Amino acid sequence: MQDIKLSNNIYYVGCNDRKTHLFENIWPIPHGISYNSYLIVDEKIALVDTVERNFIDEFFDSIERIIGKKKIDYLIINHMEPDHSGALRSIMQRYPDIVLVGNKKTFEFTESFGARTANTLQVKDNDTLTLGKHTLQFQMIPMVHWPETMVSYEESTKTLFSGDAFGSYGTLDGGVFDDETNLNFFEEESMRYFTNIVGKYCPQTQRALKKLAPLDIKMIAATHGPIWRSNLDWILSKYQKWSTYTTETGVVILYGSMYGNTQTMAEVIARRLAERGIKNIRIHDASKSHPSYVVNDIFKYKGFIVGTPTYNGSVFPNVETVLSTILEMKPKNHYLGVFGNFLWSGGGVKKLNAFAEEIKWELVNEPIEEKGALKTDKFEELIKLADAMADKLLAD
Ligand code: FEO
Repeated sequence: MQDIKLSNNIYYVGCNDRKTHLFENIWPIPHGISYNSYLIVDEKIALVDTVERNFIDEFFDSIERIIGKKKIDYLIINHMEPDHSGALRSIMQRYPDIVLVGNKKTFEFTESFGARTANTLQVKDNDTLTLGKHTLQFQMIPMVHWPETMVSYEESTKTLFSGDAFGSYGTLDGGVFDDETNLNFFEEESMRYFTNIVGKYCPQTQRALKKLAPLDIKMIAATHGPIWRSNLDWILSKYQKWSTYTTETGVVILYGSMYGNTQTMAEVIARRLAERGIKNIRIHDASKSHPSYVVNDIFKYKGFIVGTPTYNGSVFPNVETVLSTILEMKPKNHYLGVFGNFLWSGGGVKKLNAFAEEIKWELVNEPIEEKGALKTDKFEELIKLADAMADKLLAD
């Protein structure tokens, strides 16, 4: 393997995971993910975060290729989630004198994970650690996306080791730096990473962006995805957009359907929206689309219309799964439409109304509920719903 350098003495020692299907055992990662770790070689040697436990051998090989049998003095723990601390206990066994660097919360978590040691250095905002020519400055960014999350800014190279912030799904296929890859690929992967993992914590992300703004940053080295050195504005502006719930004109239609009646209603709405000039329309069948993709599209587009058949007197289970994911994330500033279908008794739309009340998005039209096959009067109501949504979006 070739050494991958961020600067003369800072090395990339991360790994690519092309085997895992679900990140956190929830989120699909068809294009894999990288676990990024960095080694700073100076008078003192510091490792910044580690990797997922399945990659420990590969990880140690990378480290030893660079420093041989030298010891590592410090492990900087920006984030304790096991995809970055998975190698922690192995590191402590291999380098028994290593000093763990983290904040008060970090060490509560190391205890909980069974990584007990007296060799700790507790840091807080603006504290620094000098390694020789390199100096790390620490800033706490809690809840982006765990409470212990912090970043480390290396002052001589102006490199921000940012933890999960500015990270992305997708493996690093040869290209490790942003300017070595086609960013079209990482546009979707970084957004899905943000909306799935960080999206619930947009206000905290906003606070972090403001806190880090005074730093003169030339490179962002996150724990996943490419290292940003040429397109910092690209990723920073996206984080600004996503974390302020800034959406584009468009509509996400989510439906569940067993025998096609609810799907037909969705198609009528979508067709009318297109006739009204809405170009971004994404229809998701809740039985096929994973909630992560629906939530991602909701972060893209301002309109959301949801339809369900009545199933056991309630909402269709796969629709319910997506709605509960949305309620957890609670993205803001959306327009909402609701429709459904039943045969012998209702209940599905009633549940969608409860969702509308809880999410507090602006309902653009009365809920519509058809009995069985779509008939003329409800067809007209669906057209009215689509028109109301188009009117709202086009007026913005
Ligand atoms: Fe990449 Fe929150 O762990």
